[in-house]
Amino acid sequence: MRRIYSIGGGKGGSGKSFIAASLGILLAKHGKRVVLVDLDLGASNLHTLLGQRIPEKGLDVYIDKRASSLEEVALSTTIPNLYLISSTKCSLEIANIFYAQKLKIINAIKNLPFDYILLDLGPGTNFNTLDFFLIAPEGLFVTTPEPTAIENTFIFMKSVYLRKLKLSLKEANMWHICQEEITKLSRGALKSPLDLISILVARDPEKGRIFEDLLSDLEFRLILNKFRGQVNENLGEQLVEVCNRHLYPSFDFLGNISYDNRVYESIIARNIFIAKYPYTKTVSDLQNMVRDLTGEKQEPVRVRAQR
Ligand SMILES: Nc1ncnc2c1ncn2[C@@H]1O[C@H](COP(=O)(O)OP(=O)(O)O)[C@@H](O)[C@H]1O
Ligand SMILES: [Mg+2]
Repeated sequence: MRRIYSIGGGKGGSGKSFIAASLGILLAKHGKRVVLVDLDLGASNLHTLLGQRIPEKGLDVYIDKRASSLEEVALSTTIPNLYLISSTKCSLEIANIFYAQKLKIINAIKNLPFDYILLDLGPGTNFNTLDFFLIAPEGLFVTTPEPTAIENTFIFMKSVYLRKLKLSLKEANMWHICQEEITKLSRGALKSPLDLISILVARDPEKGRIFEDLLSDLEFRLILNKFRGQVNENLGEQLVEVCNRHLYPSFDFLGNISYDNRVYESIIARNIFIAKYPYTKTVSDLQNMVRDLTGEKQEPVRVRAQR
């Protein structure tokens, strides 16, 4: 069965690309056929984390219609079973991609013939990043323990919900009904997409519930990267509890990834960290996540806050 995971979180430098590359490598080593898609349009760098020079082709060739399928531009890497769709060669203006092109890319990604499709996203909350994040039914949010990163991740989460709601309302031709409230929400006058749902439910309980179900069906996991000894060990779980209480109860904690100076050194030397330092805590944390994603780890009993 094909599984798609998007890896996002709002803040640059939190480790999204490092985690995407590392999970991709470990899943490939598990015998899965994996493709990494570099969707940090305009600032792609996944190839560097795989120890590679600039790939000779990627998304650009597909966008320019020089390839008939997206699979054709998935390049093999030095790791057997692992492929990369790079966006390095895309025009510098690629970040302002046309809507129709974006839809074409989104559909093509959903149909890529791989066991695992990992989407590495850029920072910020622009519409492209949110739309790419929403390609996957399961999203991984990456944060670090710093308050700034946590804050950005919460903003990113709310933006994902709001974008999902907006697109669904437009699709159902209901956008005009609550345009005023959506404007208030985007200006910060309404605190959360949940407030908007309450307004919708009050106006039309039946349709309102349909939108509520759409949002609560999304599945998210949180990763706490650059974890160090002095950080509260339960921070990740506590953050997930806050998300489940204040957003929708759709969050689980995937785990901590330990900080290791050698990650930086490996990137500078263009070495693959997990290949060079396989016996570190950081790699064992990543391996635990892979066991969870492949279903090898027993599911813990899920205790979610009641809303
Ligand atoms: N677990 C970690 N331990 C130490 N350094 C890390 C770790 N994860 C990421 N880094 C460092 O953070 C930098 C930014 O990571 P990157 O994956 O490029 O972030 P993002 O894609 O979120 O912008 C990397 O260049 C690396 O030096
Ligand atoms: Mg990145």
